[in-house]
This record gives sequence, C-alpha cells and structure tokens, in this order.
Amino acid sequence: MAVLVGTPSVTLICVSVFVAVLTYITYKLLSGYLYKWFTLKKVPGMEGTYPFVGNALSLKTSSGAFFRQIEELCQKFYGEPLFKMWIGPVPFVILCHSETVEVILNNSVHMDKAMVYNFLHPWLGTGLLTSTGEKWRQRRKMLTPTFHFSILTDFLEVMNEQTAVLLEKLDKKAGTGPYNCFSDVTLCALDIICETAMGKSINAQKDSHSKYVECVYRMSDIVTQRQRKPWFWPDTLYHLFGDGRIHDETLKVLHDFTFKVIREREEEISSMESSEDTNQEGKKRQALLDMLLKTKDEHGNKMSHKDIQEEVDTFMFEGHDTTAAAMNWALHLLGSRPEELRKVQEELQEVFGSSDRPVNTDDLKKLKYLECVIKEALRLFPSVPFFARTICEDCHIKGFKIPKGANAIIVTYALHRDPRYFPEPEEFRPERFLPENSVGRPPYAYIPFSAGLRNCIGQRFALMEEKVVLSSILRKFTIQSLQTREELQPIGELILRPEKGILIKLERRETS
Ligand code: HEM
Repeated sequence: MAVLVGTPSVTLICVSVFVAVLTYITYKLLSGYLYKWFTLKKVPGMEGTYPFVGNALSLKTSSGAFFRQIEELCQKFYGEPLFKMWIGPVPFVILCHSETVEVILNNSVHMDKAMVYNFLHPWLGTGLLTSTGEKWRQRRKMLTPTFHFSILTDFLEVMNEQTAVLLEKLDKKAGTGPYNCFSDVTLCALDIICETAMGKSINAQKDSHSKYVECVYRMSDIVTQRQRKPWFWPDTLYHLFGDGRIHDETLKVLHDFTFKVIREREEEISSMESSEDTNQEGKKRQALLDMLLKTKDEHGNKMSHKDIQEEVDTFMFEGHDTTAAAMNWALHLLGSRPEELRKVQEELQEVFGSSDRPVNTDDLKKLKYLECVIKEALRLFPSVPFFARTICEDCHIKGFKIPKGANAIIVTYALHRDPRYFPEPEEFRPERFLPENSVGRPPYAYIPFSAGLRNCIGQRFALMEEKVVLSSILRKFTIQSLQTREELQPIGELILRPEKGILIKLERRETS
C-alpha cells in the first residue's frame, strides 16, 4: 500500500526536479544571452541581426567572398571605434584601430582564444596556439627557450640547403615566361619547417604532389566554413549533415603524417643513444622536436606523445603556411615595383658581392632594406589577417561596455591600413619601416605577429627564413609581376593567400 502511494509522489518529485533543473539551465543560458544582447545594443553593427541566428544568414559562405565582406564591413564602420556581428548566439566585436586593439592585447585578462578556435582542436589539440589558462602558460614557458636566437642559428643551414633546391627549380623557369611561383615557394617553406621542427627531410620540393600540403589547405577551408555556420557547431549535426566525413578523412592524413615523423625521430634518437659510438653522428642537427622530447616542466615531467604531437602539428601549420604566404606576397610586391627591387638588389650586391655563398648570421643583420620590404609586405598582406580572443571580464572599449563571454576579432588587414600611421596605405613603401620613419607610430598600429604575451613565438624564425629565401632568389634572379593588385584576390581562411597564386616572370641576373 505504501509503495503504491509512494510511486506517484517519487515520480512527481523526479519530474519536478527535472523541470526545475531545465528551467534553471534555460534561465542561465537565456539570461546570459539577453545580458550580452542588451549590453551590446549600443555598439554599431550589421543590419539583419536576428535573435539566436544573429547575422549568420548574411555571412558569405565562400572564403574569398567572406574575406571581402569583412574588408567591406571594416571600411563601412571605419569611422566607428568598433562594430559588432553575431554568429548564432555568440557576439563578436570587430576591432581595427590601434587604440581599441591595445585595450584587448595589452590586458593579461583577455588571453584566451575565442570559441571559434575550438574547431581547430581536433587538428591542433590544445597546443600553444589553441590552449588557454595554466596549460598555455606552462607550455609557453617550456617552449620559449627552443626559439632562442642561438638555436635558430643552427637552422640557418637547413634554410640555405632547402633554398638551394628552390633555386634549382627557379633556374629551370627563368626566361620561360609566366610562372606561378606560389606552390614552389610553399613547398620550400614546408621542407624548411619539416626539417627544423621534426629533424626529418620529406623532400616535398622534389616530390611536388604533397598530400599533406593539400590537406592543410582543405582543413583550413573546412574549419573556417564551420566557424561561420553556427548550425554545424554541434558535432552530431556536423557529422550528420555537414562536412564531418571530409573533415575526419583530412584530419587522418594530417595526423598520420606528423605521427609517423615523430615516431621515426624517436626511434632514431633512441638508437643513437643506445649506440656505443656516441660520436657517430658528430654534430647532429637539433630539431625543435628533439628539444620537445627532452623538455621537462618545473616538476621534472617530460611531455607525453600526445603533448608533443599537438605542438608539432601547431608548428607545422603555423610555421610554414604563414611564411610561405608572406614570401609570395613580398615577391609579388617587389616584382611590381622596379625601384624597390633595385634597392634590394643593390643591398644584396653590397653584402654578398657576386659570390653565391650561403647566407650567414652576419649577412642577416646587414640586410636592413630587405627587412623593411618584408615588414611592409606583412603590413599590406599580413599572413594572419585576423585573429580572435574571448573577453574574459566585462570591459570598456572607447566608452562601449563589452560583456564577458563576447569575442573580439582583431583585423590586422584593416588595422595596417590606418592612414594616420601609414599615409596612402595601399602604396607599397618599405621606407615606412626605416627607424627614422617609425618614430611616434603606436606599438599596436602594426602587429603582423600579434602583440602582448600571446604574440607569435616563431617571429624571429619567420624573419630569418624570409631573409634567407628572398635574398637568395633576388641575388640570382630578377622578377616581374604579371598580376595587378585587383587580380590577386586575397582569400583569408586562416591564412591570407592569393586566390590564383602569384604569377611572375623570372630572368637570370647578369651579375650572378
Ligand atoms: C610570417 C610568418 C608568421 C606570421 C605572420 C605569424 C603570425 C602569428 C600571429 C598573428 C599569431 C597570433 C595568432 C592568434 O592569436 O590567433 C601567431 C601565433 C603563433 N605562431 Fe606565428 N606567425 C608566423 C610564423 C610562425 C612560425 C615560423 C612559427 C613556428 C615555427 C609560428 C608559431 C606560432 C605559434 C606556436 C603561435 C601561438 C603562440 C601562443 O599563443 O603562445 N609562427 N603567429
């Protein structure tokens, strides 16, 4: 009898608890959403913003069109300190002025990456680029010494060797008419990062059809497509109705590649350690991977295989696509400006004369004008055209309250075109970066490598690689661009690339 009476009341209690919990969760989610919605009401924004869907329906789906849309929005709202965009229920504020960018990047509270980086997690795990909080702090501390100048100097040899392979390929193209250099320069950057990061030469330049490179591009596209489509954010919906299957197949190629290389390197190291003849390798080149395999945290713990894989995947992605794009843009710009090209080649003549010796560290210091060219190319075409952070505490940007949980997108592509600091911003003028012309420019007006504590760990590596490759090409060849700026059509997936590559004409130089 007691059981019969008790059953409905237990059921009633369970149902009531369930309804109460559901109401509480809904209330929490809804009140958080409404709080952000009303707090951001005053911030200027795109037309056609609907509750829960936001502006997602107005966002262009192809990478090229989306990038142009962001560019146009930045121009439209340039007179405002910032503007907003809702992607589904998530608000983004877009920043393209040094004063507003500084508020975020100069504050150690807003160090976490925006939620859209979560879609990189299957590929890069939570490596240095994507991790947050204590994990990021620890990793950054462990990895910073691996990018020390003295270690980078060891990589110079690899950079010179791989550049020599590129030069052989370019030599065959010299004097033969239009040539799209994008892929060859990219494969050179890939060979450089493979050998410096993993100590493994994959000869991508010689075996030009690289499935890995193809998959890096496909993955960048897949990730950015998903970032713009909130209905595909839940994994189940993505796998049922979106590109989940292609995503997983692409991921497998990317991971298999780095996994195999790490395993081979581990085996190589352990066989060297067990070998009686410890000097057999003589001065074996150190790779970033070797340092990761040896690195210990403050408690003396080594990194696990998974930890190493996510860092290697991160370096492989951040470390070749970025530099490849930057070098290609620089070649296009120099090929369109004979006067600036002449100045670079004069400097090369002074530093190297007519010798074709490899580049050394002293040369790197002397290539001052080339450095200005590299910086100016990164101003006009920053390899990472935008990046994003989560707002971790309510804050104010130029009088607008930005609620915790919103995201800030920093559009370097637009930031670098501020006419207050870069008069006639579309003009390619390397002299802007001569020390005397940089005086008074605010530090956050030019940030191709981001800024603050979460800036790019590989920036010295990148500048070194660019100097070696570009100086070697321009010592041997003279170039002419065959595209106008309008024909280039930059597409910004994760990395800013020219949609149809870089078309140039190469001629051997008489002095070489
Ligand atoms: C021209 C070349 C490069 C450019 C323009 C560039 C730009 C950037 C930018 C803008 C960020 C911040 C991204 C964000 O906050 O989402 C970043 C972070 C990072 N970059 Fe680079 N990068 C370049 C080359 C490299 C190279 C060669 C490596 C490694 C070998 C590298 C490794 C990284 C890593 C690991 C991070 C994450 C740092 C952290 O969060 O602590 N980058 N880079």
